[in-house]
Amino acid sequence: MRDVDAPIGIFDSGFGGLTVARAVWDQLSAEDTVYLGDTARAPYGPLPISEAREYALECLDHLYEMGVKALVIACNTASAAVLRDARERYDVPVIEVILPAARRAVRVTKSGQVGLICTVGTAMSQSYDDAMAAVPGVRLHTAPCPMFVEYVERGVTGGPELLMMATAYLTPLQQAGIDTLILGCTHYPLLTGVLSYVLGDEVTLVSSSEECAKEVYRTLTTGGLARSGHTGERQFLTTGNPDRFSGIGRRLIGASLDEVVQLSTLR
Ligand code: DGL
Repeated sequence: MRDVDAPIGIFDSGFGGLTVARAVWDQLSAEDTVYLGDTARAPYGPLPISEAREYALECLDHLYEMGVKALVIACNTASAAVLRDARERYDVPVIEVILPAARRAVRVTKSGQVGLICTVGTAMSQSYDDAMAAVPGVRLHTAPCPMFVEYVERGVTGGPELLMMATAYLTPLQQAGIDTLILGCTHYPLLTGVLSYVLGDEVTLVSSSEECAKEVYRTLTTGGLARSGHTGERQFLTTGNPDRFSGIGRRLIGASLDEVVQLSTLR
């Protein structure tokens, strides 16, 4: 077991994981965090699963070697790609986004009709289907939303064009009678306005980012790894351009990302 004072490593293909990081900062303010965004090779969503897996493990190895006490895979696509082997590879707790979100959705749904919006990679992996397969009376309806990530990264989270697109993506899920929608991509919490507008209040949104952060809290607390009496420090690493990373990051989460360091060794 690693030192309680060691940071938590948070990994994402790029920027979406910042929604997980923000929830971790809110819920575990005493924890130091190192965030690694593989922006040079993002988006992972359209990549073959094997390629996303290779990149994700490289990034997770890097964080592990930095001495983090827990690894958080703050990306659905990466979680789907490494779900099966990340826990065996590292001797620190590995927390991902898919199982916590799937578990929550199963608890929340009354009709048993659950919707999932995600990247093409996550949809193809069928990881959410696998996570829910054993639950009787629950049916998953998946709608890949390949354009959403690009809109969020451009800072477009409202307006008529996005509304039209969201309506097109969500209509089949509405027709299937879903009462619960999993936001199966860590970029999507930025789109809760338009998603609730289209679906109405009767559909409960389950954020994979929020559920993941709760799981981080649970894991650290039950494992005796939670820190207290300290103000958490934040470190940011990117494989891409650090200025672009801080610019988009600030726009996405409204917090300034003080010092972003470029990691050239991974590219
Ligand atoms: N945020 C990633 C996810 O949760 C998607 C972004 C990407 O395609 O790299 O799936």
